[in-house]
Order: sequence, then structure tokens, then C-alpha cells
Amino acid sequence: RPVLVLNGPNLGRLGRRQPEIYGSTTHDELAELCRAWGEAAGLEVEVRQTNHEGELLDWLNDAADTATPVVLNAAAWTHYSYAIWDACAQLTAPLVEVHISEPSQRPEVFRHTSVVTPHAATVISGQGIDGYRQALEFIAAKSGD
Ligand code: DQA
Repeated sequence: RPVLVLNGPNLGRLGRRQPEIYGSTTHDELAELCRAWGEAAGLEVEVRQTNHEGELLDWLNDAADTATPVVLNAAAWTHYSYAIWDACAQLTAPLVEVHISEPSQRPEVFRHTSVVTPHAATVISGQGIDGYRQALEFIAAKSGD
């Protein structure tokens, strides 16, 4: 089964959304880059984005059922969704939390907490789009263990 890269709300507008914070790479371009980075690391990668929390929960539940590694940018849900906390808690394969920006350095205090971090094997933030490459390399290294 492919490794999943799951992106949460508003990331579908990547490239157009606050480019001064999130950069100019679009979500389609990110998906293409993730597939290429995965291939280089020996991983098949599937990239998905949703603005619907229940859809992300379904994907995470499937990943739990199938012991699939996940790279997760839960976007704003990161900061307050206890349903995503519970979904992440069920995962058995490596979970890597990614943020394009560095939430802990941003002025909004709500960004300073994460429901994903307690369950993540590692957190990669503030690296821009390259954080996804680093996350996939982390998972590739883990699956070689
Ligand atoms: C984000 C950071 C979150 O605080 C924000 O709500 C996002 C994107 C990031 O990738 O930097 O939507 O997860």
C-alpha cells in the first residue's frame, strides 16, 4: 500500500493562499513533488487534500486498519480537533507531522498547540514544501529498519 500524504483544510489553495507564509508551490505541484521524492526514496506515495474533517478521519481510520505510514499536515485542525487526536492515536505505522510554516513562531496563540504531536514519530515544521521531502525520507528510513 502507498504511503499517504494527507493535507487538511485550505491547503488545496496552496500557491495562492497567503504565499508570503506558505510559498508559491501549488497543491498539484506539491503532489507531483511528493510522488517523485517518494520514488527516489523507494516509496509509493499517494497525496490527498480535504476541507472536510470527516473525510480525513475516514482516511486515518483506513490507515489504522492497514498499518499504513502517514505524513499529516492537518492544517488548522491540528490545533483543536480531538477527533483527529483520537484518529492519530490509533495509528501503528509511523506518523510524521508536517507544517509548511513554523506554527510555534506565529503570533496566534492557537497555533502553539497540536493534537497530532503526541502521536507523531517526528514533527517537521518551518521548512516550507521541503518538509514533505524530509518526512518521506524519515518514513523510508523507518521502513528500512
Ligand atoms: C499549517 C499551519 C497551521 O497553523 C495552519 O492552520 C495551516 C497550515 C502549515 O502547514 O504551516 O493551515 O499547518
